[in-house]
Amino acid sequence: MKPFDVYSLYDIEPVRGVGSYVYDKDGVEYLDFYGGHAVISIGHAHPHYVEAISQQVSRLGFYSNSVENSLQEEFARRLGEASGYADYSLFLCNSGAEANENAIKLASFHTGKSKVLALRKAFHGRTSGAVAATDNPSIVAPFNRTSNVEFAPLNDLSAVEEKLRSGEFCAVIVEGIQGVSGIYAPTNEFLQGIRRITTELGVVMIMDEIQSGYGRTGDFFAHQYAAVRPDLITAAKGIANGFPMGAVLISPMFEARKGMLGTTFGGNHLACSAALAVLDVIEEERLVENARTMGEILLKELRSEPRLKEVRGRGLMIGLEIDGSAAEFRRRLLKEHHVFTGGAGATTVRLLPALNIGEREVERFLTEFRKLINE
Ligand SMILES: Cc1ncc(COP(=O)(O)O)c(C=O)c1O
Repeated sequence: MKPFDVYSLYDIEPVRGVGSYVYDKDGVEYLDFYGGHAVISIGHAHPHYVEAISQQVSRLGFYSNSVENSLQEEFARRLGEASGYADYSLFLCNSGAEANENAIKLASFHTGKSKVLALRKAFHGRTSGAVAATDNPSIVAPFNRTSNVEFAPLNDLSAVEEKLRSGEFCAVIVEGIQGVSGIYAPTNEFLQGIRRITTELGVVMIMDEIQSGYGRTGDFFAHQYAAVRPDLITAAKGIANGFPMGAVLISPMFEARKGMLGTTFGGNHLACSAALAVLDVIEEERLVENARTMGEILLKELRSEPRLKEVRGRGLMIGLEIDGSAAEFRRRLLKEHHVFTGGAGATTVRLLPALNIGEREVERFLTEFRKLINE
């Protein structure tokens, strides 16, 4: 048997990682400014993380959600305190798509309504509800096409308001910063306007912080920049530094009912110990602040680069608009300059490094990037 051939692969295989560097089997070093798709938040093989999950797996790696699990309680408490959502409750699952799926379900259960409003160019994942709310027909199977999802343009508040006033919608779902579409941020006014309208109409506001969350943008969650409090917040990717985990932060207005949501693996012992270790490091090493500081340096330097058409983003979630094919630019940056970056659309290079990069990594990235763009 072979793997189902759905991924476009680079012919490079990292076999080891330390901090923001990965190494292939010949020992060639690569600077990781992609973080394995925004997943490596505290760097590869962080000693505290390795110690925590090694200890946990040697004690108890997994037991089901039919018994008490104090690690889940502790993680919920710690996440509440770290994020400023101590009064919310937490549902744990295994991926970003699953987190959005559960958020949409909660909104629908709560309001008794079935329609979701998403934004143009949004990406929310590939399970049924999440992919239906994703604005990319090429990944939506006929089974997942539904009139239950409509789309409005990003930052067009009157279009959102007009749809929501129909009274048919249970929820509106918005990315903290749109990632897959190429790093496009909602304006503060747009988020504040959505909050006002959804509160007035009893529509649930869901923020998808799966890519923009946990410090990446220089705030714990990207929406906190606009000082709004959504009803549901979804997180995944970097929250357990590569151990698969998704989370829904749920406002006190939702009432839990036994059996309402569920999953076999979600919130298991190993996942919670990984997530707790990530929070320890984020706090001890002040990584939210570091993401903001390193992001400011990168953005300032890159914005003074005349060959770049546009530089978008906040903190360590950055989109670089280049003149030409981003795929070819990224391939050359990787093969010739040994730097991993992400893509987004035809002409955008996406930077999603670990939150604990330092000036050394920033310098090295800028040097290699400038060599290539100025060729
Ligand atoms: C904003 C956003 N939402 C949801 C997802 C889906 O997450 P997962 O691939 O873990 O299902 C992603 C993944 O890229 C994402 O960027």
